[in-house]
Amino acid sequence: MTQQKIVLITGANKGIGYATARTIGRAGHVVLVGARDRERGTKAAAELAAEGLDARFVRLDVTDLATVEAAAAFVDREFGRLDILVNNAAISRDQHRGPSEMPVADLREVYETNVLGVVAVINAMLPLLRRSAAGRIANVSSGLGTVAFLTDPAPELRQYATLLGYNSSKAALNAVTLMYAAELRDTPIKVNAVSPGFCATDLNGHRGVLSADEGGAHIARQVTMDLPPTGVFLSELGGSHPW
Ligand SMILES: NC(=O)c1ccc[n+]([C@@H]2O[C@H](COP(=O)([O-])OP(=O)(O)OC[C@H]3O[C@@H](n4cnc5c(N)ncnc54)[C@H](OP(=O)(O)O)[C@@H]3O)[C@@H](O)[C@H]2O)c1
Repeated sequence: MTQQKIVLITGANKGIGYATARTIGRAGHVVLVGARDRERGTKAAAELAAEGLDARFVRLDVTDLATVEAAAAFVDREFGRLDILVNNAAISRDQHRGPSEMPVADLREVYETNVLGVVAVINAMLPLLRRSAAGRIANVSSGLGTVAFLTDPAPELRQYATLLGYNSSKAALNAVTLMYAAELRDTPIKVNAVSPGFCATDLNGHRGVLSADEGGAHIARQVTMDLPPTGVFLSELGGSHPW
């Protein structure tokens, strides 16, 4: 195994985040299972630990700055550094309503988690990532948030082109990714958007075509790759997505 990494994954108690934690843990790295709910997070970390993985629960609600800062203090105390941050936690509130039907309050809730939450976690963890020899920030994004998709959606995916909250929050996340990549360009820290593919999870009523395990394996591969680029949207198929 290459050098053991300290890896924090937000929203890792289920779905793609959990599967990512398991794949990375099986590769011998320390996985910090970020979860907003103590019970769900403890259970997920215990399941991984029962497999023999070095998995620890870290309470982290990305919309609650006190928990974000406490999580950073915990990582600092226990490990003194962070090697890989996977910003995976996200929500959707669209329920297949069109943009004109989506209440601003719901939109705000989505942005609090999918955009502002990511910024809060990156800012809190950055001092720890700077102490890594090869820090990585991976923002789990979606092709649905790319300008390429929104401009010209494939016919079979057109039904997903009007998800105002989810898609525009991922578009904002893509922009956030590029800006951190630019700010950190002269450091060892690489900042990318990553893609799990269309996976069957609670987020989409299990309509995806891949399993969460397959999506997690894609994310794990993208975030642990040697010599990654920076400021790109890595594709689950290899190579990169257009923005
Ligand atoms: N599924 C897909 O096809 C697909 C495709 C492209 C990208 N993605 C992205 O993949 C990531 C994971 O999605 P998923 O499909 O695995 O969804 P999911 O099964 O709904 O899991 C979402 C996770 O995020 C957590 N979460 C939500 N709000 C949070 C908060 N405020 N603080 C901390 N954790 C929070 C949830 O915790 P609770 O259990 O407490 O709710 C859960 O652990 C998301 O970024 C999503 O946009 C998914």
